Amino acid sequence: MSQKYLNSQFYKTNRDRLRMLMEDDAIAVVFSNDMMPRNGDQYFPFRQNSDLLYLTGIDQEETVLLFFPDSPLEQFREVLFIRKTNEKIATWEGHKYTQEEAAKISGIKNVMWLESFQSVLKQASSLSSKFYLNKNEHPGAPENVESKQLREGKRIKEKYPFHQYYRLAPLMKELRLVKQQAEINTMQQACDITADAFKRVLKFVKPGLKESQVEAEITHEFLRSGAQGHAYAPIVASGKNATVLHYTANNQTINNGDLILFDIGCEYMNYASDMSRTIPVNGKFSARQKEVYNAVLRVFQQAKEMIKPGTSINQINNNVEQLLMEEHIKLGLYSRKDIQDNEKANELIKTYYPHGTSHFMGLDVHDVGTKYERLEAGMVLSCEPGIYIREENIGVRIENDILVTMEKPLDLMADVPITVDEIENFMNDAG
Ligand code: GLY
Ligand code: MN
Ligand code: MN
Repeated sequence: MSQKYLNSQFYKTNRDRLRMLMEDDAIAVVFSNDMMPRNGDQYFPFRQNSDLLYLTGIDQEETVLLFFPDSPLEQFREVLFIRKTNEKIATWEGHKYTQEEAAKISGIKNVMWLESFQSVLKQASSLSSKFYLNKNEHPGAPENVESKQLREGKRIKEKYPFHQYYRLAPLMKELRLVKQQAEINTMQQACDITADAFKRVLKFVKPGLKESQVEAEITHEFLRSGAQGHAYAPIVASGKNATVLHYTANNQTINNGDLILFDIGCEYMNYASDMSRTIPVNGKFSARQKEVYNAVLRVFQQAKEMIKPGTSINQINNNVEQLLMEEHIKLGLYSRKDIQDNEKANELIKTYYPHGTSHFMGLDVHDVGTKYERLEAGMVLSCEPGIYIREENIGVRIENDILVTMEKPLDLMADVPITVDEIENFMNDAG
């Protein structure tokens, strides 16, 4: 359980904004995530549902928000249900929120124990004909495990079959896409901690270490700085491992002469950061490594400037693919003749650059929003071109987090070593 939250006014404002998007007289019900069983009597670490965090700030399991802003009964307009604690829970798991604490964090006056949820829902349902229910609508969302919100949503539909049902996800997407100043400040803090972890490993990496030893340094820096941990499984990939996009084993020995690719980001106050850097294990890029690195860096610098109001991730992806194709040709990966037909060009570009350039960021590292959204000031996106040459054991990705503004894009990781000289100097400077 994180002990840090934004001001209760933030959550109150978010609920007010949600109200503006909802149908009249409708009830939205938002559930916490499940505690996911691991084995025996163990659980995986709990991560709160991001929509519930956004609307209440309550980072505790077994929490439900019932939001019925037009309720004729005032006490049903906002009701927060939390887990009722007792001596046994206090002994085994520690402190859980009191009703007063949950009210103070969320700004919701009516906080009840979870056992009252069904009866309040029943009473509220008789005063309304519409429900908003939630589902993770990320296009890549895994569907093999049913989430609590889906399970409970189905139960509500079964119990109240003649109500009208609406999707909450598009509304939450609209609200969460543009970040408020408090969120931007928090994301900047997350980025700063991630930057410090990277600087720490720049001094630490040397041939002969295990990738896991480097990962431990990163985790150490995250935790000592007040982050909750990693926002996603960290990638510490040396040599050919860097060409595996989602390499997370991080268990190989780091060899002299290889590159090492980091894709790391801490989670701070439930907000994500996401950074990639590629460095030479022995502190000096070889001529070929430098060539590939600088190709990615050139594209990164151009891509960053594309993150402006009015464009879309899809457009940025397309433009960056064209830039990378030119770099591929310069690097001798294929020739202009090889890409005469579109299908072949696409295949070759994808061989050396199989992913996209940007995704939205926020409470989730891959935050709400599709690649077709029109960018607006206040959105935060990653910028992460890369080149992966399996036959040469070279994988290079460079990734910073960028805030869209009305003026120039604002790089939240602008001060992190990024050029060949900056990286080499930082690694070799005794200070
Ligand atoms: N670390 C996940 C990503 O870069 O998208
Ligand atoms: Mn990343
Ligand atoms: Mn990313």
